[in-house]
Amino acid sequence: MSSHGPARPMSSRRSAPLKGEALVPGDKSISHRALILGALSVGETRITGLLEGQDVLDTAKAMQAFGAQVERQEGGEWVVNGVGVGGFAEPESVIDCGNAGTGVRLIMGAMATSPITATFTGDASLRARPMGRITEPLTLFGAKAVGREGGRLPLTLKGATSPLPVRYATPMPSAQVKSAVLLAGLNAPGETVVIEQEATRDHTERMLAVFGADINTEITPEGRVITLTGQPELTGQTITVPRDPSSAAFPVAAALLVEGSEVLVPGIGQNPTRNGLFTTLAEMGADITFENEREEGGEPVADLRVRFGPLKGVEVPPERAPSMIDEYPILAALAATAQGPTVMRGIRELRVKECDRINAMARGLEANGVNVEEGEDFLIVHGTGTPPGGGICATFLDHRIAMSFLCLGMATRNPVKIDDAGPIETSFPDFIPLMERLGASFRRENA
Ligand code: S3P
Repeated sequence: MSSHGPARPMSSRRSAPLKGEALVPGDKSISHRALILGALSVGETRITGLLEGQDVLDTAKAMQAFGAQVERQEGGEWVVNGVGVGGFAEPESVIDCGNAGTGVRLIMGAMATSPITATFTGDASLRARPMGRITEPLTLFGAKAVGREGGRLPLTLKGATSPLPVRYATPMPSAQVKSAVLLAGLNAPGETVVIEQEATRDHTERMLAVFGADINTEITPEGRVITLTGQPELTGQTITVPRDPSSAAFPVAAALLVEGSEVLVPGIGQNPTRNGLFTTLAEMGADITFENEREEGGEPVADLRVRFGPLKGVEVPPERAPSMIDEYPILAALAATAQGPTVMRGIRELRVKECDRINAMARGLEANGVNVEEGEDFLIVHGTGTPPGGGICATFLDHRIAMSFLCLGMATRNPVKIDDAGPIETSFPDFIPLMERLGASFRRENA
């Protein structure tokens, strides 16, 4: 899916108290990985709670193109019959990963050590994102990549015929780079080692162990050293995908913004490599309780009870960035309604997400009467309690920018308009009806 059709402008206005339960969809990161590892396993993988957003549907389609059987059963369970490590077939056509950076980067890793060739593309957002960070380590295994300038898509990857194992230190904190190298390492003989300075989300490591790979992580003075033994036989598993903390962030934020709200957000993944936003919200004075803490599918999970309350601006430590990298847009919206400045540093990676998120948030907040300061790797938002609103925000094909500004509009004096709600389909297809059921006041606008 390269495009989601005509733009769908939408506005959000000051809302009455939000009440009820928000059942957010399955974790996007875990959903991609469940499909890919299912495809690389022998036998049947059954997945419940899979995110049925466009990003993940595009990965499901890609796994079919590489030879796996992927089917949705009645009732919503997904079944993958895999081809085993090294068993990928050459796709007959171009692999279109739509908007999904995670999808394309992990799939490139998964095929890079098989003797096949594939060409990848995506939508305008994905075609603008850097892929050199993936193709560079993949060439160390013996793969060859030809892309546009900067390694951008469309890109053709020729997998290695006699892959070598690799030892690779990631030059930036990126779970996608780490995961691409580990997935490539699956079909290389010997040990593939990835070293990261800062902990990024570890779903790949956890899930590889669940599927039967020999993988371990050591904390050393060099960093986190992850060692995978190549050419394991992965076997199909039953996977329960927890609900996505990055999607939960939107109803959580909305409940914190709208006076008188109380919302329950059940079953949310609490993996420590993902929960930096909740630490930050606690520092801002947010009233969130974590109930019924438990483990599901190898991941910690809790029900979140969120109550409205005034927030204060904080300084977010840069070392927390990897554990909340996707949550800065919604944090910036919340910061606009807090008292005092919120300082976000060490966020350079936001410039190469689905869009340049520092720029998108800064411009959209300014359009709504919020003062911001912006630098190459920082954003400072000057919160004033109740921002004026009344502005139009460009969303640049970015689902999280679209949802963040719709949440902001629930607490501003005047409505906030976004130019396109379409991209929300990529990660949270039910976002608009779900928020409306809680009490949000959205309106479809004319283009
Ligand atoms: C993801 C890793 C992060 C994150 C993305 C999902 C993943 O990207 O922003 O939404 O599932 O591995 P980077 O690896 O580029 O930091």
